[in-house]
Amino acid sequence: MPATATRIDDCLTIRDGRLWMEECDAVELARRFGTPVYVVSEDQLRRNARRIGAAFAANWPEAEVALLPSLKANLSLALRRILNAEGLGCDTFGPGELHAALASGIEPARISVNGSVKDAALVIRAVEAGARVTLDSAAELDLVASAAQATGRTARIRLRLRPDYDGLDMPSDFDPSVTVRAGAHRYKPGIPLERAGDVARRALATPGVELVGLMAHLGRHRADAEVWRGMAGSFAAAVGRLCAGLDGWRPSELDVGGGYPAPRDPIRNEPAPPIEDIAAALASGLRHGLHAAGIDPAGIRLEAEPGRSLYADTGIQLATVRHLKEQTAPVPMRWVETDTTEMFMADLLIEHAHFQVIAAARADAPEAQTADVVGMSCGFDLLVPDARLPALEPGDVLAFLDNGAYQDACASNFNGLPRPGTVLVSGSSAEWIKRPETVEDVFARDIVPERLA
Ligand SMILES: Cc1ncc(COP(=O)(O)O)c(C=O)c1O
Repeated sequence: MPATATRIDDCLTIRDGRLWMEECDAVELARRFGTPVYVVSEDQLRRNARRIGAAFAANWPEAEVALLPSLKANLSLALRRILNAEGLGCDTFGPGELHAALASGIEPARISVNGSVKDAALVIRAVEAGARVTLDSAAELDLVASAAQATGRTARIRLRLRPDYDGLDMPSDFDPSVTVRAGAHRYKPGIPLERAGDVARRALATPGVELVGLMAHLGRHRADAEVWRGMAGSFAAAVGRLCAGLDGWRPSELDVGGGYPAPRDPIRNEPAPPIEDIAAALASGLRHGLHAAGIDPAGIRLEAEPGRSLYADTGIQLATVRHLKEQTAPVPMRWVETDTTEMFMADLLIEHAHFQVIAAARADAPEAQTADVVGMSCGFDLLVPDARLPALEPGDVLAFLDNGAYQDACASNFNGLPRPGTVLVSGSSAEWIKRPETVEDVFARDIVPERLA
């Protein structure tokens, strides 16, 4: 990095007024690959994986720690290859994600197959491959038992619990009128606590089925670290209640799910606590809760499923300014119209996220205007309201930060717009890891019956 560079984070710098990701100039990337385009830093992904893993390992000396990043946050097979090389497992939800996880070469024993409505085909595929199945209902135990019998394989299972997060009576970021506890009760996944004991007892008595652990996922309700202490304490209480009725059975692994905020936390638009603080609060809450429930945590493997906190700041989205528009009356307005859309930054809609925007060729130029940065769909398409920006011209490249998690995975073809591709930056090299869609791709599934042709 040149001496004159200003660091935005570990992979983004400003050099001579231009935005760089690792050793690639963002404007050059936009020229070479076209816009809109997602761009991901390999270095940042590896760094995040190591940092999150180290944070949990440092706080859980009781046993091994494993990360099972959620595939849903970024479905790229190339990025999964990088995480495989880093030794990480994977949380999958449904048949598509299990297919992708197996296709990308993840060691099956490191995979957890989650999902709130699993069918027989998915369970057989998981058990046959040797992936762990995280049960969401009593009915799934029957599917697992049949799959074990049909395949001759041992089915390793965990139960997804629905702890009562008493103590988390603070408002959720999703909807401040709802508490975290109430929001979690409303969220469908998991086996109700009153049924979990029966399911566990049946599992322990079923040939070919091995109950190895328990799991819970609160999701990203709030960014403060103390929420994770409460989450883990309630999970431990649920674990204790379950184990109390199981004649000495103890989980060999406990999975605390994901939901940790991204470092810049675009949802609250302010920095999140460091992952080290979150891991410390979580591990401490779990340890104390287990002790209180009479369970010795020594030897219990801890698993976590980060999605957003792992991927978000690895990626930016580059777009091009197409048009500048201004009105002075009746209400003064100024718009910077770009070639992307809120459909390609879906967290604007789903999570009410606030993504920071940088003019890639004038990244440290003085702010000269306040404008709404908007997209090219017919929706409201407000990408950044009231952005403070330097003077701009059509053709200028804008970079939206923190687009590495969920933005591609949740993108849609609204208005018939082909979704962007993804470029992977590694040092000074850059290459496609997902090609951009074409208009033909968008309509490829359409069938016009002969009688309408
Ligand atoms: C079971 C499970 N684990 C992990 C995650 C990842 O959550 P996040 O990306 O907020 O870390 C999710 C997200 O919905 C999930 O459902």
